[in-house]
Amino acid sequence: MFLQELSNDFSELELLVVDGEAVGFVVYWLVADEVHLLNVVVAEASRSCGYGALLVGRVVAVAEEMGSEQVCLEVRVGNGSAIRLYERLGFRVMGRRPKYYADNGEDALLMGLVVTMP
Ligand SMILES: CC(C)(COP(=O)(O)OP(=O)(O)OC[C@H]1O[C@@H](n2cnc3c(N)ncnc32)[C@H](O)[C@@H]1OP(=O)(O)O)[C@@H](O)C(=O)NCCC(=O)NCCS
Repeated sequence: MFLQELSNDFSELELLVVDGEAVGFVVYWLVADEVHLLNVVVAEASRSCGYGALLVGRVVAVAEEMGSEQVCLEVRVGNGSAIRLYERLGFRVMGRRPKYYADNGEDALLMGLVVTMP
């Protein structure tokens, strides 16, 4: 996935390193007037320390710097911790994509955050 993403001009991949150890990453696309957050992952041992919020906050900051209108993403309906994280940062549910995930047929929630200029 990393190699494929690195080959896209519009794709950005950022790694969070704490005390020399990689604890998480975020992947997002810069597309036209919006930023699409593809994935954010924190290593299991490093969760609930605020790193997820830091990574998603970074993407929102980039969107602000770029003058993007919104940040959007899809998340599994059953992924409570991710949904709570996004809602805490101001994302709101904008729609639902039925059977979006091929592995188990789970629906996706489409969430978005309107970017305000700094
Ligand atoms: C979703 C994910 C990225 C969140 O990462 P995280 O680093 O645990 O996120 P945060 O620490 O910012 O927030 C998680 C929880 O920790 C709590 N927390 C944050 N800082 C804290 C602190 N200093 N002390 C205690 N709790 C804290 C938050 O309140 C939150 O609680 P909640 O889940 O009950 O709402 C992580 O669970 C993950 O990698 N999941 C697997 C991949 C995934 O599903 N990614 C999303 C794809 S769309």
